[in-house]
Amino acid sequence: MEESTPLRKRDIILKGFSKLLKEDKLKAVAEYIENPSEFINLLKSFWYQDKDKQKQFDEFSENTISNYHVPYGVSPNVIINGKTYIVPMVIEESSVVAAASAAAKFWGERGGFHAEVVDVKKVGQVHFCWKGDKKILNDLLPEIKSEFLKNTSSITEKMTKRGGGIIDIELVDHTDKIDNYYQFLVTFNTCDSMGANFINSILETFGRTLQDFFLRQEKLEEKDRMVEIVMCILSNYTPECRVKVWVECPTNQLDGIDESLDGKAFAEKFKKAVDIAIIDPYRAATHNKGIYNGIDAVVIATGNDFRATEAAGHSYAARDGQYRSLSYAEIHDDIFRFTLDLPLALGTVGGLTSLHPLAKKSLELLGNPSAKELMMIAATMGLANNYAAVKSLTTKGIQQGHMKMHLANILNQLGASEEEKTQATEYFKDKTVSYSEVETFLKKTRS
Ligand code: MEV
Repeated sequence: MEESTPLRKRDIILKGFSKLLKEDKLKAVAEYIENPSEFINLLKSFWYQDKDKQKQFDEFSENTISNYHVPYGVSPNVIINGKTYIVPMVIEESSVVAAASAAAKFWGERGGFHAEVVDVKKVGQVHFCWKGDKKILNDLLPEIKSEFLKNTSSITEKMTKRGGGIIDIELVDHTDKIDNYYQFLVTFNTCDSMGANFINSILETFGRTLQDFFLRQEKLEEKDRMVEIVMCILSNYTPECRVKVWVECPTNQLDGIDESLDGKAFAEKFKKAVDIAIIDPYRAATHNKGIYNGIDAVVIATGNDFRATEAAGHSYAARDGQYRSLSYAEIHDDIFRFTLDLPLALGTVGGLTSLHPLAKKSLELLGNPSAKELMMIAATMGLANNYAAVKSLTTKGIQQGHMKMHLANILNQLGASEEEKTQATEYFKDKTVSYSEVETFLKKTRS
């Protein structure tokens, strides 16, 4: 019988781990698990058989020992500005794709979604400290800016040809808050790329240029020739890279959504729920989370960076000092309108969008959209999920829908047969689902 090796203590530091071969990394990690061989086999079962494909995935990140699968679904019949899309959605949470699809069907029959890109400006900053006289800095500004542009022309050349590049360079004086601290706030248009590498390369070149520039200013005192570059980095707060999407219809077209409310009363209750998310941060966080259920799913499916888009949205939601809803509802002259307005910096070329085989196919499924079109598509799915969630919350509640899924999961966990599943679904139609209730039900039917 194979002798079991004792579990490794978790506080042991693994030296040189990153240099190990993948197989050896997996073995080393398995020593921290009760059943190492089961762990190794399980993780290996998620490796791709095709070695080139696996290598491609391994190279997206570091210290990889397996792949983590997430469901890839689609929401068909999404009509945006009169054009129909099949939208890919990558998400692990049940009900999100179903809710988005139901909302897309509902609004498809009421004129579809309307969308417009407000602007596509992205920003980055060179944060620096300089001890000299402010007036000198301001006087030297035109010369500094022209050196910035000259020294980055090789990086910007292609982007400028595509209609993008550096739009503006602004000097911001923060010396009243942090001693000697200024920043260059730089605005960019990165066309169809997310543009993170482009922006950061330019900012770092600006930083080096600024230091060299001051070192050459022989008329200045030695101490004033020194610039401390604190950091150069893009900002994920992009209030000027924004998209707006909305749905609208006469309130009588909302009749029948809830049996106890006519369309107008439903619209008013719906608006009240959205207004609550505008004034109350506790509700706003959950409300906006529902919006990102839809947006993140498209962002991930198309190989974009969901942490960046969430950071942008949540900081925008707090732009006046209080965290608020990203969507708002209006009723004027019996017309109900529900709008989502948020920053969304996305790319359709470069990065993972072209490296990840599924991201590439997602874009193809969407008809290879421009970055602007993708902004409208992702925001639409945000609005669709937001509408579906608030509709459920203000009518039957969300648990009814979730409980079906919950029941199915419990039945699977308890190894129910297909016949038992049918019986349980019928039995729990009008009852509260809990693990113990389902267990008791199965025991009874089995005996
Ligand atoms: C769950 O993932 C999302 C909701 O909580 C959103 C909301 O409350 O608006 C249903």
